[in-house]
Amino acid sequence: MSWADKWNTSIKMTSRERLNSGPFWDGRADRDRSCPFSRKLTDDQMAAIAPLPHHRLLEIGPGNGRLAISMARASSSVTLVDPSPVMLQALDERAKAEGVGNLTAINDYWERVDLEAIGTFDKAVSSYSLFMMDIGPQLRRMSSVADEVFLFVPAEIRIPFDVQRMMFGDVVVEHTDHEILTNIAEDLGLEPVVWTMEYPGRPGFDSIDEAVEHYLDLYGVPESGKGPIADHIASTLRQRGGTFAMSDEMKVGAIWWQSI
Ligand SMILES: C[S@@+](CC[C@H](N)C(=O)[O-])C[C@H]1O[C@@H](n2cnc3c(N)ncnc32)[C@H](O)[C@@H]1O
Repeated sequence: MSWADKWNTSIKMTSRERLNSGPFWDGRADRDRSCPFSRKLTDDQMAAIAPLPHHRLLEIGPGNGRLAISMARASSSVTLVDPSPVMLQALDERAKAEGVGNLTAINDYWERVDLEAIGTFDKAVSSYSLFMMDIGPQLRRMSSVADEVFLFVPAEIRIPFDVQRMMFGDVVVEHTDHEILTNIAEDLGLEPVVWTMEYPGRPGFDSIDEAVEHYLDLYGVPESGKGPIADHIASTLRQRGGTFAMSDEMKVGAIWWQSI
């Protein structure tokens, strides 16, 4: 199977086609993710992106602006592309509250943006916003408008292998997004440079039930198979400091290339 096919299989089998949707994210715009953990991630991403004051930046899928606001403070302007109007509204309110005024929002899917109209950028960034099928042409589109492209993606398996065996009878997604996208970028001749960043101390859930509900939804477990998988998840949860999670670490994969 080609890496492009592995990407499509991964998106499909991990139920992430539903994430490539404005309405899906509309309901999630008010989540406040500000914690020491996310601040460290933002700092590390900013150190990697290293914008200069005269730079024009593009962010694909900024959500409610965790990274976009920092990018805007450090650059000349940031153009945002996001299909969720509620996310963009939350971002706008946050920017106004923080006195940040150099943002331009485009309420659309990256796949549909008119590249002639959007202009060119010093750097394009996507952080946890790639859920499209047939990703290769979308990476090329990023390259065609920006001198440098930065992708930040999960560097961990979304559905643990034992849960995949229970859901599908076998392991159907054996690579992380980071591995798959690195190989796709190499296949496209983009000559990516890649690295990972690790964040221990990921906040857990207050109860076993809350954690199990979260993972059933995250894995996209169908109603019919929930019982045994819920029991399995409950038995493998780790307890740390009175909270519950499958893992207390987050691994972020970074992929960078220069447009040729
Ligand atoms: C998990 S949030 C990421 C937020 C932010 N980038 C961060 O790292 O904190 C995913 C965002 O990607 C956006 N998104 C989903 N599909 C997209 C697409 N096809 N084009 C642009 N943005 C998309 C969603 O609307 C959502 O705001």
